[in-house]
Amino acid sequence: MKASEVRQKYINFFKASLRKHTEISPAPLVLEDDPTTLFTSSGMQPLVPYLMGESYKDEGGKVVKRLVDSQPSIRLGDIEEVGDNRHTTFFEMLGNWSLGDYFKKEQISWFFEFLTDDKEGLGLDPNNLYISVFAGDEHVRVSGKVTQSLGPDVESMSIWSGLFRDKGIDAKTANIGNKKPDIKNGRIFYYGAEKNWWSRTGTPSQMPVGEIGGPDSEVFYDFGEKYKFHEKSEWKDEPCHPNCDCGRFLEIGNSVFMQFQKVGEDTFEELPNKNVDFGGGLERTTAATEKTPDVFRTDLYNKVIEAVEKTTGEEYAGKEKYGFMELMRIIADHMKASVFLISEGVFPSNKMQGYLLRRLLRRSMVKMQKLKGDVTSTIGDLSYIEIADAVIETYKDSYLDLSSKRDLILKVIKEERDKFGVTLQKGLKIIKDYKGDQLNELNAFDLYQSYGFPYEVTQEIFSEKGKILDKNKFDEAFKRHQDLSRKLSAGVFKGGLADHSPEVVRLHTATHLLLASLRKILGEHVVQKGQNITKDRSRFDFPNPEKLTDEQLKEVEDMVNKVISEKLPVNFEVLPKEEALKTGAIHAFNEKYADTVKVYYLGENLNEAFSREFCGGPHVANTGKIGRVKIEKQEKIGAGLLRIYLVLKNN
Ligand code: SER
Repeated sequence: MKASEVRQKYINFFKASLRKHTEISPAPLVLEDDPTTLFTSSGMQPLVPYLMGESYKDEGGKVVKRLVDSQPSIRLGDIEEVGDNRHTTFFEMLGNWSLGDYFKKEQISWFFEFLTDDKEGLGLDPNNLYISVFAGDEHVRVSGKVTQSLGPDVESMSIWSGLFRDKGIDAKTANIGNKKPDIKNGRIFYYGAEKNWWSRTGTPSQMPVGEIGGPDSEVFYDFGEKYKFHEKSEWKDEPCHPNCDCGRFLEIGNSVFMQFQKVGEDTFEELPNKNVDFGGGLERTTAATEKTPDVFRTDLYNKVIEAVEKTTGEEYAGKEKYGFMELMRIIADHMKASVFLISEGVFPSNKMQGYLLRRLLRRSMVKMQKLKGDVTSTIGDLSYIEIADAVIETYKDSYLDLSSKRDLILKVIKEERDKFGVTLQKGLKIIKDYKGDQLNELNAFDLYQSYGFPYEVTQEIFSEKGKILDKNKFDEAFKRHQDLSRKLSAGVFKGGLADHSPEVVRLHTATHLLLASLRKILGEHVVQKGQNITKDRSRFDFPNPEKLTDEQLKEVEDMVNKVISEKLPVNFEVLPKEEALKTGAIHAFNEKYADTVKVYYLGENLNEAFSREFCGGPHVANTGKIGRVKIEKQEKIGAGLLRIYLVLKNN
């Protein structure tokens, strides 16, 4: 089946009068008011306030509780895994939500019907479907009359087994107690929180207080025994099961029962509503309809892969053993993500989203050089244009912006290609001058890092100069770098506010302005001693010998409002802690910080910013979005300790 048909069938299925979902427009890839994350990475992300209890109103202002869409998403967390048959950085997530309306019974039955029904759905054979449900977790203690650990999701388990029974399939539980999961024993598997709990920030213990999450139930498609790679892998002697990653099973949908909010260590409370948050990859679902476990063989990639084949003269299927297939997949994926990002106004730069776009483009260029076996080929190489064009061609009917922005997209890619080409030339010059001791693994890694020289290329040039590189030593340097990047991107998601409602986010940025203004007016002894933000006000504690005079209070309030009216951009940089301290950014003195931190700054650049603070976010995109604020009152709460209440005005 074509992906566009899968997408349309899914939307229609949930919109149909029996299920009455409202179709919503997908959010942009970069969420303007949510700097907690660099890219939209799942369909639920723009819906967090509604999952937390706010009413969702449709375009006519009517409150609706059932939503459906297909959300373009980018996940860079596992960029290094792209190259296998299933991982991509860009994907479309089919999503449906119940905001305190239907729950497990309807969600599980409807999704099963969508997958298996011949007419309204995809007509997949239920014999090829395997299921996972939450096994329970003693670390999820749900507080109520009696606080208790969350047990196994027997309700989902029994709904699933009933649905299979209705199709004449005996769907046994495969693993109860200490039994290892094994498809020989059944069809429905219990897994712990690592696999069957979903939140934006991972397992229950990884979640910060305030974050929402819940147990989930996944559906896996079985492509059959011949796709099992056990004999080649470390799972060789292990029993096969849906989550063993052997290549036989592909996860195609995840129903999250978004029902809890973390309130303390191991402690959770029920959200005001029991919600459903479903997400399923369009690429993977299409692959299941095509009975190929390789998403790169679906029509969402065919033209793009063909363009890679044409421009390199290599065959996608031909050279698997040489890793050519892997290279082609990376190029196709990264160019696709880049095309979508540029169409949404992201341009290559050295910061935030722009940096990641640059990384995607350059990474695909390096892989292209590897395929072509020519490191100098970048400047003026038309391959990237042909591949980008194939992406536009693939999506032009579903994403109209791509056609209208075609010229811009190609221009940006051309410019980045030539800039990178120049960098590569510089790298080549550097290599030429290396001799003796300089021909070492660290320099080889630096060439890779800074100039995009693949190891194999450097190795070849070094060997011409008589040096044989040690791949292990190079890999060590690579791994150290990778660990650091992981920490950096993890840092982006850590810390910060629990409540992401628009009022709280606006007050949060206003509080940064308040602290900076207090320091400018009263002096640098003003530091943050305490802070608490609700939708109605921000409460801020700081040391000062005396209460502020009315004039001083007015001066502070005026300064905050002046900066608001200047609409200063709000940005952050992720820096190693030592470097962050050197920027003079303010930080809470008694707090411990990770090795890498986020520094939020309000202004055009970090050095000349009005305010610089260690902070997890989120914040508004520019200070103008705060609207006017007012200092509501001031209190003395201890010897030399003051408290100010700040509120949003006219809102
Ligand atoms: N939020 C869940 C996911 O991203 C389901 O939509 O997998």
